[in-house]
Amino acid sequence: MSEQPVITPEVLVPRLGEQLVNMGLLTASQLEQALKHQQRQAAEGKPASLLGQTLVELGFLDRPTLDRAVTEQIIQLRSALEDANRHLEARVKQRTAELQEALRKLSELSELKANFMANVSHELRTPLTHVRGYVELMTSESLGPLTEEQKRALQVSLRSVHRLQNLIDDLILFSQAAQGEMSLQLGPVNLNQLAGLAIDHAQSKANEREITLAFRVAPTLQLVRGDFEKLRWVISQLLDNAIKFTEPGGSVMLVMDVENEIARVTVRDTGIGIKPERMAEVFEPFHQLDGSSTRRYGGTGLGLALVRQIIEAHGSIVSLNSEPGDGTTVSFPLMFFTEDVHDGKTA
Ligand SMILES: Nc1ncnc2c1ncn2[C@@H]1O[C@H](COP(=O)(O)OP(=O)(O)OP(=O)(O)O)[C@@H](O)[C@H]1O
Ligand SMILES: [Mg+2]
Repeated sequence: MSEQPVITPEVLVPRLGEQLVNMGLLTASQLEQALKHQQRQAAEGKPASLLGQTLVELGFLDRPTLDRAVTEQIIQLRSALEDANRHLEARVKQRTAELQEALRKLSELSELKANFMANVSHELRTPLTHVRGYVELMTSESLGPLTEEQKRALQVSLRSVHRLQNLIDDLILFSQAAQGEMSLQLGPVNLNQLAGLAIDHAQSKANEREITLAFRVAPTLQLVRGDFEKLRWVISQLLDNAIKFTEPGGSVMLVMDVENEIARVTVRDTGIGIKPERMAEVFEPFHQLDGSSTRRYGGTGLGLALVRQIIEAHGSIVSLNSEPGDGTTVSFPLMFFTEDVHDGKTA
């Protein structure tokens, strides 16, 4: 096994030696002699001395010349260091500029996407309103009598039109929220009335899927502060999810409770549940846990993202509890309405 070289200043000074040779202050053979001298001294166990010191001792250089040479070397090193720093600063500036440009492009793209979504969804709404109007007119037989088969075909068309309209409304709401334009019409909201409407709306879907739908409203519940239409939309979305992700025979419950002097809205189901590691994901727009190409449940994955945005715009927070196979509970608190606070549009 070869012996490891001892790291002492002597090992590092050959660069000083080379420098002295380059400067013509020392010959190559003098340098060699000095290094050998050092090795000998080391072999004899004498304390190590620096190369410069050795050169002076051997009379190859005088002290002032050595000091001048060392000073010159330090100056050269310092200027090389300054050059490297300048170069590094220039690189950092260039990289920062590149990153800023990439960020600018990304924000531009994201704005473009939001504008595109807002425009397209508005443009889709108008022709769809016409389609719906005429289909409803035909269904009511105002344009002439219909055969049973024609009626059935029109009913299917109408259901599809409704689905398309809901989707477009979601997209409009989402693009408004993405552009920071979600406005709330705050006022007193009767949660009892809201629960009734949301349950009525969800009932036919629950029946279709053979799911028991129930609701309970605490008798002490007062009016809450909120945007009636948006809260209705939120509760409908939560009921829609609960029904959609529960197997036939299961149940869905809407509860309006009072807890620590605030109202709490809860939608609970006995459905398929959500794995703990995927809970955060469900609030991301367009994220659906069943991502296969032959998706079973339909929808676009916007529901919960918008639910969260609307509830947060109310100054509240949505909580999600779920146990795979056992069911899911989504809930959020709402403040009671008081007269003394001025209501208006909230961004
Ligand atoms: N009650 C629930 N039980 C089990 N999984 C749920 C429940 N609610 C939501 N999820 C999961 O979270 C995903 C996102 O829900 P979200 O409501 O945002 O979208 P979606 O219902 O798939 O589509 P959309 O609401 O746009 O019609 C769902 O696709 C589903 O995987
Ligand atoms: Mg949904």
